[in-house]
Amino acid sequence: MKRNIIAELLKNPAFGTPVCVKGWVRTRRGNKNIAFIALNDGSTIHNIQIVVDLPQFDEEYLKGITTGACIRVNGMLVESLGQGQSAEIHAKEIEIYGTADPGAYPLQKKDHSLEFLREIAYLRPRTNTFGAVFRIRHHLSYAIHDYFNKQGFYYFHTPIITASDAEGAGSMFRVTILDAENTPKTAAGKVDYSQDFFGRHTNLTVSGQLEGELGAMALGGVYTFGPTFRAENSNTPRHLAEFWMIEPEVAFFDNNDNMTLAEDFLKQVISYVMERCKDDIEFLNNRYDTELIERLKFVLENKFIRLTYTEGIEILEKSGRKFEFPVYWGADLQSEHERYLVEEHFRCPVIMTDYPKEIKSFYMKQNDDGKTVRGMDVLFPKIGEIIGGSEREADYDKLLNRMNELNMSQESLWWYLETRKFGTAPHAGFGLGFERLMLFITGMSNIRDVIPFPRTPKSAEF
Ligand code: 4AD
Ligand code: MG
Repeated sequence: MKRNIIAELLKNPAFGTPVCVKGWVRTRRGNKNIAFIALNDGSTIHNIQIVVDLPQFDEEYLKGITTGACIRVNGMLVESLGQGQSAEIHAKEIEIYGTADPGAYPLQKKDHSLEFLREIAYLRPRTNTFGAVFRIRHHLSYAIHDYFNKQGFYYFHTPIITASDAEGAGSMFRVTILDAENTPKTAAGKVDYSQDFFGRHTNLTVSGQLEGELGAMALGGVYTFGPTFRAENSNTPRHLAEFWMIEPEVAFFDNNDNMTLAEDFLKQVISYVMERCKDDIEFLNNRYDTELIERLKFVLENKFIRLTYTEGIEILEKSGRKFEFPVYWGADLQSEHERYLVEEHFRCPVIMTDYPKEIKSFYMKQNDDGKTVRGMDVLFPKIGEIIGGSEREADYDKLLNRMNELNMSQESLWWYLETRKFGTAPHAGFGLGFERLMLFITGMSNIRDVIPFPRTPKSAEF
């Protein structure tokens, strides 16, 4: 018999029909005569109740049905008289696919801490919390593709292995097949990368933007959605060494168009997920963060505040607040500053623009004041920076000058400069940290809890 999906059975129960479900046992209770099994198959946060009339079965065999076991049940779908569920299954036939020794199964008891669950990341998708988070992660990914597709953007695949450092931050993972114990050396005593796989020094990408720009200069509007890697030693609840980034890049966009796109995009995908994942979001709201749904609605209903970095610094200076990191014009904003503006001063998402050029990347469009660049960061409550982007410097000479000022080698970026020689055009784009948006939508407070297998300093076991 074909397997029924539990979410479907609970949504449209055809009472009185035979069904077949397969899933993992969450709990088993009852007495000598009757057993109640709560079964979950991952399709919904809700379990379906299986009622077993024990004397009709081989009771010795059924002893294998404990928390964590995987079973198949054929039976009759009937209206439930119990509270909190609409339908239950009266079992006719049960097969145990796999037992889970109660003495050894790590998820035997309920209510484990998130810290403990991180240590058993290979099993945590079996919990209500992580089932909800990973279903939301799926729907959010889908919503993002759906949004850009409807807007006429093309999904552009940029390389994971690159020879360039897009952000110029230098925190990259090297990709090499050279023997670590016995690296070939040049006459000058340096590592001889010409003998490496690609014949040059390569690393994992920190951003697909530079290649994305090439796509935009031909296809008009493109976006990337892929993993990015940063070897920065930031052990914070908001940083991963491997995270997913969405980077739209659009020809003929200025920074205002860019901001409008970012705001519309965020609102549309949040609203899609709120609609699709009602049960899961409600669960997370009730369990972890009772202001979650309110916060999500608030972001949908309010226009984001736009202000310049200079205005932001003035507000922070006048706030009278003692920050851990000092505030002055030229300082890179820390999460505490961003959150003060968003959560206390404006009480609204903020898009900050026109940053000092010294704290932003080389590719941002230079303003006429000679001091600032047309960058824009979207700052969210509880998160801080969720999006970073800019209008790009489209002028060859200005871009080259800036690269020289920063002592950047043209050797690995000559092809990027070429775009400014052949049919250059104004263009802009941004990068959204997928897990930062996941934090916002799920209300989870640690980024390690919104990706199945987090990669952080000293942690990559599974
Ligand atoms: O601000 P960032 O560094 O910007 C770029 O990489 C640009 N190339 C984007 C562009 O204009 N196309 O990173 C963009 C976003 C940040 O706002 C943040 O949400 C996220 O990526 N991010 C991280 N998320 C998790 N862990 C990390 N270590 C992150 N670093 C950045
Ligand atoms: Mg940034």
